[in-house]
Amino acid sequence: MSGQKSSLRPIVVAANWKMHKLRSEALEYLEDLGTWMDDHPEGLGTRVEVVVSPPFTSLELAVEHRPPNARIYAQNMHFADQGAFTGEVSPAMLRDLGVDGVLLGHSERRAQFNEHDAALGEKVVAAAEFGLRPMLCVGETLEERQGGHAEEVVRDQLETALGDLDVIKATSSGLSIAYEPVWAIGTGETATPQLAQEMHAFIRDTLSSIFTAEIAERIPVLYGGSVKPENAHELLSQPDIDGALVGGAALEVDSFSGIVAAGLDVVSGSEARA
Ligand code: 13P
Repeated sequence: MSGQKSSLRPIVVAANWKMHKLRSEALEYLEDLGTWMDDHPEGLGTRVEVVVSPPFTSLELAVEHRPPNARIYAQNMHFADQGAFTGEVSPAMLRDLGVDGVLLGHSERRAQFNEHDAALGEKVVAAAEFGLRPMLCVGETLEERQGGHAEEVVRDQLETALGDLDVIKATSSGLSIAYEPVWAIGTGETATPQLAQEMHAFIRDTLSSIFTAEIAERIPVLYGGSVKPENAHELLSQPDIDGALVGGAALEVDSFSGIVAAGLDVVSGSEARA
């Protein structure tokens, strides 16, 4: 590992439930996670932030039963505040529910639901305007990586989706980035910490050129793709990996809290060294 972790950025550990959990299951999870978080108050909500991202049907319940210091994110939204868009949900509606933020551009939405970078640019701006913290997801496919295009693909995704965001809003909105190589999602194949660190450093350089170096230093860049309690510590110890966006291993409180615990451990280790 090269370099130290920056104290300018918290570690963010986010549970993306995708299309899982009925309301009763959601409630049980939120209560169990809340109990775990109550038992581990040190550093939670300050140095380590917890995000839970349920499907739309459990969002209101998640806001009402939000574990202490956790944030609730939607998994998608439209960019318009209202209109004739059957089946869509607006940023105003999410704010009205008390939702804190929103995942944007998840690779499953890009690959299966025609999510395009240009519309994502409008979504990022709309989220920031409505006070929703945007978490922009980027990442290359296996084919793009094998063809030597991983950096170019990720740079294009970042530039197109963030190009219209006001520089001030880049930090005040609570923007974060999730790097999720498509080949590592749900496959059990995790990027090595070294490979992920290289891409995260590249993402930070790209954020510096889009915004400024000072702003790029403050934007958390999460890694996603087969993160589990066993590999979380090494990933989160990398200087530019500021958190984890977790799918499969976030569906059970036991394994998700194991990843949050790894984040707390990394933070306490780096504070002890400082
Ligand atoms: P897995 O953790 O199941 O690989 O999913 C990652 C992901 O897509 C989180 O958004």
